[in-house]
Amino acid sequence: MTPFQIVPVALPGRAYDIRIGDGLLAEVGAHIAPMLSRPRVAVLSDENVAALHLAALRDGLAKDGIDMVSLALPAGEATKAWPQFSRAVEWLLEQKVERGDVVVALGGGVIGDLAGFAAAVLRRGVRFVQIPTSLLAQVDSSVGGKTGINAPQGKNLIGAFHQPSLVIADIAVLGSLTERDFLSGYGEVVKYGLLGDANFFEWLEENGPALAAGDMEKRAYGVKRSCEMKAEIVLRDETEQGDRALLNLGHTFCHALEAATGYSDRLLHGEGVAIGCALAFDVSARMGLCSQEDPSRVRAHLRAMNMKTDLRDISGDLPDAEALLDLMGQDKKVVAGTLRFIMARGIGQAFVTSDVNHNTILAALRDAA
Ligand code: GLY
Repeated sequence: MTPFQIVPVALPGRAYDIRIGDGLLAEVGAHIAPMLSRPRVAVLSDENVAALHLAALRDGLAKDGIDMVSLALPAGEATKAWPQFSRAVEWLLEQKVERGDVVVALGGGVIGDLAGFAAAVLRRGVRFVQIPTSLLAQVDSSVGGKTGINAPQGKNLIGAFHQPSLVIADIAVLGSLTERDFLSGYGEVVKYGLLGDANFFEWLEENGPALAAGDMEKRAYGVKRSCEMKAEIVLRDETEQGDRALLNLGHTFCHALEAATGYSDRLLHGEGVAIGCALAFDVSARMGLCSQEDPSRVRAHLRAMNMKTDLRDISGDLPDAEALLDLMGQDKKVVAGTLRFIMARGIGQAFVTSDVNHNTILAALRDAA
């Protein structure tokens, strides 16, 4: 078997592995076979990912005598809503997926979230395996059990916590991503260093360019360290009563910017996270929480990676600072009417607070525009 690394997610009664390696799709049957009560899986994917990777998945399963049926949904965020969700659930029922069977999610965050939610409600819960094909999904959305779809009222407002039974992160599939999609996922990788591991951020400063250029060892380490950090936070706070909110570093700004750009490809999610992280450090420095050098260091690394760092890097017009602050008020992290932010006392030292002066945020937004 191709060598792989394991990050355990040791949730009591629902422990699972994240397996990370170069070429795991070709041997996927050997990873999944021990979980199956019969040699058959149902795969949910999207049309783009299916064209690229479904044949390899089928072959990888067939080597171990596992059959698969598959449904490819339209690619894109619009799929993550009731119509395609009910289509997927009804298809799984038509395929006679039983309580003891396994659903496989092959795709990025949209498919992982939708398929995980389908598995959560199908026959009151069946097991599912995440095979994330984007960097963002490998380091974030496939791990930790947040599943769901969007509502007209907002993103991810309908869903369930349902942990996967296995995550298979084949870093070879990242080679089929566009540079922009890869770097968008890298925004989430940087986030982990910034929120809780200064050494990892330093490692990224040194190794990020080679990682993006295709160095497989560095890619494997970047994915592994990100997954370790996510697993550790999920173990502490699975249902986001406290520390899990740290994973939202940069996200309050990001969600406002995504809403302001109509969730279009003017701004990809990870790009918004990267800009949001820079803003979070900027506001933290303005509040005297961290040194002035920290936001400069964050922006310098993002620039070295050829990433967006400021509002002015987003094409087209944006609402003014007051309107963006208003959009932040729609964020899910509003509790009892109070907006919570993730701020930082330094690189790798993020914390959750409501104690942020709105004028400071407005000033940071204006300077980034
Ligand atoms: N993506 C944030 C979380 O899983 O909590």
